[in-house]
Amino acid sequence: MIPTLSEIEILAQQAGAILRARYGNHQRVQHKTTHTDLVTEVDHASERFILEYLHLHYPDHQMIAEESGQHGQNYAQSWLIDPLDGTVNYAHGIPIFCVSLAYAENGLVKLGVVYDPMRDECFSAERAKGAWLNGQPIQIAQAHDLTQSLLVTGFPYDTFKAKENNLDHYARFAVRSQGVRRLGSAALDLCYLAAGRFDGYWELRLSPWDVAAGALIAEEAGALVTNIQGERNYLTPVPSILAANAPLHAQMLSVLHGG
Ligand code: IPD
Ligand code: CA
Ligand code: CA
Repeated sequence: MIPTLSEIEILAQQAGAILRARYGNHQRVQHKTTHTDLVTEVDHASERFILEYLHLHYPDHQMIAEESGQHGQNYAQSWLIDPLDGTVNYAHGIPIFCVSLAYAENGLVKLGVVYDPMRDECFSAERAKGAWLNGQPIQIAQAHDLTQSLLVTGFPYDTFKAKENNLDHYARFAVRSQGVRRLGSAALDLCYLAAGRFDGYWELRLSPWDVAAGALIAEEAGALVTNIQGERNYLTPVPSILAANAPLHAQMLSVLHGG
């Protein structure tokens, strides 16, 4: 059985409704790897809901979900699930977060949906068919020069101790662009890029479920998406991402490597 894009949109919207319903209530927060890496009861509730649906309808598919890990071995048909991208925002009552769902065949993402329940924005894409926001086609922005561009980035949870903490790149882009934002949701960063709101996005040390859906949406909206070395196989166990239109991508790549 192969899922349809509209089916995944509905599933993401239903999981998003769980996030919206419990948003603002005091959340019991637990720390995962570091003091900045949080998880709430709502991450778990959203993930349980998504997995229950997928186990029922696609019992032979593999599922890789942020909070509970890998279910099944069927790499030919697999799902990458982030039940709440933007947990730190969520736990602090900042309304910037989403559900991110990707369906892949043999490691190639075919369908991706990112749903922002606070704005009722559903970003979606199907490989080789296009990208949409609430059913309307979307396209990336055309700013070809850093001086005309608004960028977005994020910082890994080990920033406080890691040598590669992205602060050097941030400083260089901040003085070369119109500004660098930090939304706190990698999936929405990619979707905002896809919708032409941001011109460029880069980030180090992400997880596949953060970017699998958003990167397809950005690609289908016209972005060149690579890792920060400029290679197309960004969906490795620890992805880094550089996404922009092709001329801006080249400029950003050069800045990332000291230019
Ligand atoms: C995080 C967000 C954030 C990014 C982190 C991710 P989470 O995901 O996408 O923007 O900077 O690296 O881990 O933990 O909120 O699902
Ligand atoms: Ca995430
Ligand atoms: Ca998450």
